[in-house]
Parts: sequence; structure tokens; C-alpha cells
Amino acid sequence: MKTANQQEKQQASERLLSVGEVAKRSGVAVSAIHFYESKGLIQSKRGANNHRCFPAVTLRYVAIIKVAQRAGLSLEEITQAFGRFAYGSNMKAEEWHQLSMQWREGLDERIARLTRLRDELDSCIGCGCLSLESCPLRNPYDELGKLGPGAHILERPVIEKPRVCLQAEEGNPTQE
Ligand code: FES
Repeated sequence: MKTANQQEKQQASERLLSVGEVAKRSGVAVSAIHFYESKGLIQSKRGANNHRCFPAVTLRYVAIIKVAQRAGLSLEEITQAFGRFAYGSNMKAEEWHQLSMQWREGLDERIARLTRLRDELDSCIGCGCLSLESCPLRNPYDELGKLGPGAHILERPVIEKPRVCLQAEEGNPTQE
């Protein structure tokens, strides 16, 4: 037999919300709610008077979508992650853990890239301009240009072997 508290919780989770209520409570524009629905990220159902309404758990989904987008995840990545669960499931702690683990690797890589961008943008990035004092050290004679177009130092993989200067490789190897 359920306690009064449990019954209250169940009633709250079973309630249906209009699109306006979802927008107001989530802080997301009505147009964005419709957009998420059109992308299959959230689902509505027909309620009383045949009006379109959303289960209360939609608020959780919208919150996750907002946070994931803020963290740089694409709608495709979010859709893929949601696709692992039956829509409308209340996403228990274990499911949320699975979801966050799925995103963790990508997030770690983004963090590493952004950290590197912050730390290296004011130094030579290997773009071929040779305009900074640090270029002769990091990209002597634009050696990195031989690898093709791009800012090679900035765009190198986040996890990599220590970079060996091309010129140095031929005679006097130095590592960065
Ligand atoms: S910053 Fe462009 S080659 Fe160094």
C-alpha cells in the first residue's frame, strides 16, 4: 500500500502539461518545444479536448537537452542517447549514469580541446603565418606546411605522441 507521499509523487509524475506550461517551467520557448518534438526528442499525446499535451517527464528531457546543448553536444548525439531508453521512462539514476557515461568521452575531449585553445591561441599554432616570435621555435621555416593546410599545432589530436619537430627529426630530434 502506497503512502500519501508516494501517491502524491505518482500523481505529479502522471500529470499532463500543455506546451505553454512546459515552456514556462523549462524556460524554453514554445517554438523550441515544438522543434524538439519535430526531432523526436520529446513526445506529446492527446489529452482532454483532444489538445496536445506532454507528460511531466518532458520537463526532465528538456532540461537534459538544454544542458547537453550547452555542453556542446549536437541534437544528433542527444537523439542517439535518448534512443537507448523507452520514451517517457523516468530515467532512473542508473539510466542517467549510462547516458552521462556515453557522453563523457566526447565531453572530456572537448574540455581538453578548449583548454588547449585557451592556452595556445596566443602562441604559434603552426598556421604558416610565421608572424610570432615563437614560430621559429615551434614551426621553423614553416616546416609544418609540408603536412598540408591547416593550423597543425592547434588542430593536432588531443591525445597524441609528443610532437617531434620535422626539421629536428632529420638530424637533431627535439620533443615538445
Ligand atoms: S602562428 Fe602561424 S606559423 Fe606560428
